[in-house]
Amino acid sequence: MIDQIYRKAVLTVSGQKFVEDLVRSRGWGMAQRFVAGEDATSALQAVKELERDGILSNLDLLGEFVASPEKANEFAEKVLHLLDEAHAAGITPYVSVKLSSVGQGQDVAGMDLGLANARRIIGRAKAYGGFVCLDMEDHPRVDVTLAQFRELVREFGNGHVGTVLQSYLYRTEADRDSLDDLHPNLRIVKGAYLEPPSVAMPDKADVDAGYRRLVYAHMKAGNYVNVATHDERIVEDVKMFVLAHGTDKENFEFQMLYGIRRDLQKALAAEGYRVRAYIPYGRDWYPYFSRRIAETPRNAVFVLRGMLKG
Ligand code: FDA
Repeated sequence: MIDQIYRKAVLTVSGQKFVEDLVRSRGWGMAQRFVAGEDATSALQAVKELERDGILSNLDLLGEFVASPEKANEFAEKVLHLLDEAHAAGITPYVSVKLSSVGQGQDVAGMDLGLANARRIIGRAKAYGGFVCLDMEDHPRVDVTLAQFRELVREFGNGHVGTVLQSYLYRTEADRDSLDDLHPNLRIVKGAYLEPPSVAMPDKADVDAGYRRLVYAHMKAGNYVNVATHDERIVEDVKMFVLAHGTDKENFEFQMLYGIRRDLQKALAAEGYRVRAYIPYGRDWYPYFSRRIAETPRNAVFVLRGMLKG
């Protein structure tokens, strides 16, 4: 409960314009702890550095909801450019995309622009043997994202596109069941948005228990699972589960965020598990940064210290 109150407080405060202006003007140095850089070159450099520790990458050009088709197309072009740059650098591209940043919900000539842009992005990634994960955003977008995901898997196959399910939503176990026919590649997360108690579990213990159930159910169904968490107890439980069920290490991976629990990422890779770091980069770092602060008070202390110093 305390976790929820803390998270709600941070996400509410960070949504205030004056707080955003203050942090944007003074916070880039601190954001660099969680963000690989402002351009694709810095992000690709981070990919190479992680490679040396046996850690795979998932690139995320930072950006959230955009209101105009021009901006959405501009953003999609940047993602396409990232795919080209990664391929040219000898990296098989694995990227994450928020559909709201490429026009989800905007109707252009009778077609959802987000879906049209997702098609272009996944098509390009597929041509390079790569993968696109559709990030999950706040709850009003879940239905449309899952419907569009279904359509995209039908077109491109489940080896080139995946999506995310959030264990804090009451609906998620039913959503996972409903996707089983696609044998989808799913990233399981706890959920990072400010959601009302009518849709999301207020108690962290329930979110954690639901998280385990989702991972185990998806594994039992024989699907590829991205276990995306820094929760060491869950990581240990998943290791026990796969051992007990003889699950092949090729059928799942651990995923963590860039700059968080690097020690655990390295240790798991050294034990022979597939580990992938989610590498955000770009100028629009504020919303991403706010969600990371909301995840643990230790990060808020880190930011406040930085602001006082500087
Ligand atoms: P939890 O919050 O219980 O934390 C467990 C422990 O991890 C904490 O005690 C702390 O030590 C450490 N920790 C967690 N967060 C930390 C932080 N920010 N800084 C330092 N330490 C931290 N969400 C979403 O809604 N949609 C999405 O598409 C994604 N995508 C995504 C991809 C990947 C690869 C990851 C790892 C996470 C996401 N998330 C996400 C975010 C997710 O929903 C969740 O908010 C965070 O992962 C934090 O939850 P944990 O599972 O780590 O556990």
